[in-house]
Amino acid sequence: MADPVIYLDHQATTPCDPEVVGAMAPWWSEQFANPASRGHRPGLLAAAAVEQARERIAAGLGVPTSAVVFTSGATEANNLALKGLAEAELQAGGARRHLITLASEHRAVLDPLRYLSRHGFSLTELPVQPSGLVDLERLQAALRPDTLLVSAMAANNEIGVLQPIEAIARLCRERGIRFHCDAAQAVGHIPLQPAALGIDLLSVSGHKLYGPKGIGVLLVAEGVHLAPQLHGGAQEQGLRAGTLPVPLIVGLARALELALADREARATRLAALRDRLWQRLNALDGVHRNGADAPRLAHNLNVWIEGVDGNQLQRALRQVVAVSGGSACSSGQPSHVLQALGLTRRQAAAALRFGLGRGTTASEIEAAADAVAAAVQDLRRA
Ligand SMILES: Cc1ncc(COP(=O)(O)O)c(C=O)c1O
Repeated sequence: MADPVIYLDHQATTPCDPEVVGAMAPWWSEQFANPASRGHRPGLLAAAAVEQARERIAAGLGVPTSAVVFTSGATEANNLALKGLAEAELQAGGARRHLITLASEHRAVLDPLRYLSRHGFSLTELPVQPSGLVDLERLQAALRPDTLLVSAMAANNEIGVLQPIEAIARLCRERGIRFHCDAAQAVGHIPLQPAALGIDLLSVSGHKLYGPKGIGVLLVAEGVHLAPQLHGGAQEQGLRAGTLPVPLIVGLARALELALADREARATRLAALRDRLWQRLNALDGVHRNGADAPRLAHNLNVWIEGVDGNQLQRALRQVVAVSGGSACSSGQPSHVLQALGLTRRQAAAALRFGLGRGTTASEIEAAADAVAAAVQDLRRA
């Protein structure tokens, strides 16, 4: 049998933890009732499971249970936050029409905001510094009396850098501007207490924290009004219609607990492995770390490599290491994030993102470094 591929793409997705799979198990076929069926006992049991999961998620993130709105993932949470806030402003007869985000955001933020910019809102996409971080003075200068919202991610999905979200939240709060934070890559990986930071809207994804795919959360702070983006039922305080996926919700709650429990130890261990990987790659010459000077996730390393063609490099590694050139959601195109740091399209195309995870071992890191070194040497010789 061929050697298994070394999985270093944990920012695309993580494996669902076996304990999470176990927690979900009874809710598929044994206790399968609809939690909205309040007229019978199985339905009430399902509803209780949902509410218990909501309480556990709220406790883990330090918010009231009423803040937790279940969605199908961070993409939907972002859409609900951004389009929901804009539409609520229109419905309330408000005059704020200006939106701000960063050029290095995920497509799940950029695309809904660009959609809004085609429907009566104006959008500022702020450039980021070569480190990948926002320039706070530049952000401050971009704020206008009619700015409705700033959206900035906590941790970047490609280069792992951590934006100064506390400072951004403060700038927004002082001016009555809403702050949305896409925390899909951050929750369960870095300490994050959205209510204490003054974040109005925060998006979470289950499958980035060793939970199931197809479930996420939008945290909505008290007093923030959103227009629903899905119509067809009164679930989730009327904000998100649709039958609640009980197994996924139960799984998300367990995954979050597990991720919060081992977060610190995992980050310490993975930072050491990540640094070792960088040491090995840096020895190859002509390997550059993207987002080098910024605070970052412990499990991320992103590099671009001189003298190789990105596609050929990916092809050479494919059988041995699962890594990606960038976001899983914009495959094929040179990364807009790396171009926002100032890389050319060609440089961005020769990038590799390593996302380490809970199961990553030291011997896997050595084997991955060996594979990259061999591929780079071959390609450079050719
Ligand atoms: C920063 C960021 N936001 C949003 C998403 C989308 O999350 P989901 O797959 O839960 O819709 C991702 C996933 O790649 C992400 O990395």
